[in-house]
Amino acid sequence: MDTILETKNVTKVYGEGDNRVVAVDSVTLALKRRELLLIMGPSGSGKTTLLSIMGCILHPSQGDVVLDGRTVSGLGSDALPDIRKRFFGFVFQSFNLFPSLKAAENVELVLRLKNHDKKRLKTEALELLDKVGLGKRSDFYPSDMSGGEKQRVAFARALAGDPPVILADEPTANLDSKTGMDVLRLLRALAEDFGKGIVIVSHDPKAEGFAHRAVFLEDGRIKE
Ligand SMILES: Nc1ncnc2c1ncn2[C@@H]1O[C@H](COP(=O)(O)OP(=O)(O)OP(=O)(O)O)[C@@H](O)[C@H]1O
Ligand SMILES: [Mg+2]
Repeated sequence: MDTILETKNVTKVYGEGDNRVVAVDSVTLALKRRELLLIMGPSGSGKTTLLSIMGCILHPSQGDVVLDGRTVSGLGSDALPDIRKRFFGFVFQSFNLFPSLKAAENVELVLRLKNHDKKRLKTEALELLDKVGLGKRSDFYPSDMSGGEKQRVAFARALAGDPPVILADEPTANLDSKTGMDVLRLLRALAEDFGKGIVIVSHDPKAEGFAHRAVFLEDGRIKE
């Protein structure tokens, strides 16, 4: 099946009474393998909430998430950590690298968490850094790397364990324009050359030129 992830009428409500906010409102979306999908929309429109639901980090108030044909809400919450490990690589705006670990060690750490073969940790980490064009920086600490390089380490880490889906929240927000383009180009290549389904949330108008498809959120709803 070509579709790797679907949300079906997903709604998320935060708070109650006067504090009630419908952050995501009946969103139905499908992500294919090899697709780079862009989610745009103003601040507060529900982008991060939707991405968190897609990544099974947040439970929807209503609706279903379907991963590779299996409905997630039918599974117990015990199953979620394992699903997150197998299905997703996450990348955030702020890189979230460990400053005291070298680039390769940052990647190895995630491989370890995903129970990767211990004998192959170092080789595999180098291979992943190579994929994102950072083979030569494996011994660098985050403090000695540029923003774009740090973001690429974050993508190498997201690829650890070979998950079919990568979810990235504002991956170019802390980057200058040219570096942002490099990261977007890399994302497109990860989708097309490595078959990943990738969702990025971005305010960055440049992102539209790299995505295969863009959807626009407003007040939690997809605007046609
Ligand atoms: N944990 C929370 N508790 C209560 N309300 C929340 C929570 N997280 C988000 N919201 C509200 O839900 C709505 C959507 O928030 P969300 O963070 O998904 O927006 P966003 O599109 O990612 O915004 P931004 O572009 O600023 O990151 C907002 O009105 C926000 O205030
Ligand atoms: Mg957000």
